[in-house]
Amino acid sequence: MPDEIDELRAKVEAAAAGIRSRQDLQKFKEEFLSRKKGKIPGLFKKIPALPPQERSSFGQRVNELRQLAERLFKEAEEGLKGSLWRQKLQESIPDPTLPGYLKPLGTVHPIPEISHRIEEIFLRMGYDIEDGPEVEKEYFNFDALNIPPHHPARQEQDTFFVGEGYLLRTHTSPVQIRAMRRRKPPIRIIVPGRVYRRDEADPTHTPMFYQIEGLVVDRGINFAHLKGTLETFLKALFGEDTRVRFRPSYFPFTEPSAEVDISCPVCGGKDPHCRVCGGAGWIEILGSGMVHPQVLRSGGIDPEEYSGFAFGLGVDRISMLKRGLADIRNHYWNRMDFLEQMK
Ligand code: DAH
Repeated sequence: MPDEIDELRAKVEAAAAGIRSRQDLQKFKEEFLSRKKGKIPGLFKKIPALPPQERSSFGQRVNELRQLAERLFKEAEEGLKGSLWRQKLQESIPDPTLPGYLKPLGTVHPIPEISHRIEEIFLRMGYDIEDGPEVEKEYFNFDALNIPPHHPARQEQDTFFVGEGYLLRTHTSPVQIRAMRRRKPPIRIIVPGRVYRRDEADPTHTPMFYQIEGLVVDRGINFAHLKGTLETFLKALFGEDTRVRFRPSYFPFTEPSAEVDISCPVCGGKDPHCRVCGGAGWIEILGSGMVHPQVLRSGGIDPEEYSGFAFGLGVDRISMLKRGLADIRNHYWNRMDFLEQMK
């Protein structure tokens, strides 16, 4: 005959098998194991009332039942944790039917974007791309380019000097000398890169900006080659309708020298109040000239045998012109809303 211990064991087992939640677990504990009201501790309390010869085996069997109940409680508790964990996992499994998140796609920055376009045009004309250091020898930046020691550009308020004989290059022109020393004519190169000047940043100046230098050296190169090349280039960049104008100018490293203007790409010279050309109808776009014999000599090239032309342009300025920017510093503020619009 099953006695009350057997009956209680059956209840314990049935209750344990039915545990599905934290509340069930709590109820199980209260019903069977709690010191005050639990049914198993309740059986222990009956021991003193039993005949002495039954007490020991009764106590032992209740003890076994308590151990069983405690084990079942633990197992249910563990099982519950597992299923809660599974439930959480289930909730975090991505729903493959949802539309995906679009990662914002970056764009090429407006400065290298323009620089690449210009490089493309010259690459099609058979030019190579050259490179030189941004920390440059004072000699290559100035002396070798026929810029004498008293020239204002060499003063400290214009140039970042970085120790004896070195500076941050103020233009890409020193690469002319490096390239002439590295290569033999015919030379046809362009040199894109950063240059530095001690300018306060304002709407038209930044202490670092980008230039592209050009250099051609060969036998019989003359001013007509310079004109033809730059006209071809400027029409390719600004459109076939663009008019190009050469004005006499002065650079220490070219003789003769010319500044080159294009007809205003915004108003074409038709708007007397044009925001870009101010009504002048022309925009200065680059400096150029025939390479000075002294510069050829610095590059190890005999000016009796060879001649050449060179030019230099500011990439930032061209970017401003092409995009109608009023402030050159837009390029360097790193503002996503600006960069987005430059796509
Ligand atoms: N180096 C000049 C500057 O930074 C630009 C320049 C003018 C470069 C005439 C040239 C040139 O090669 O022929 O202002």
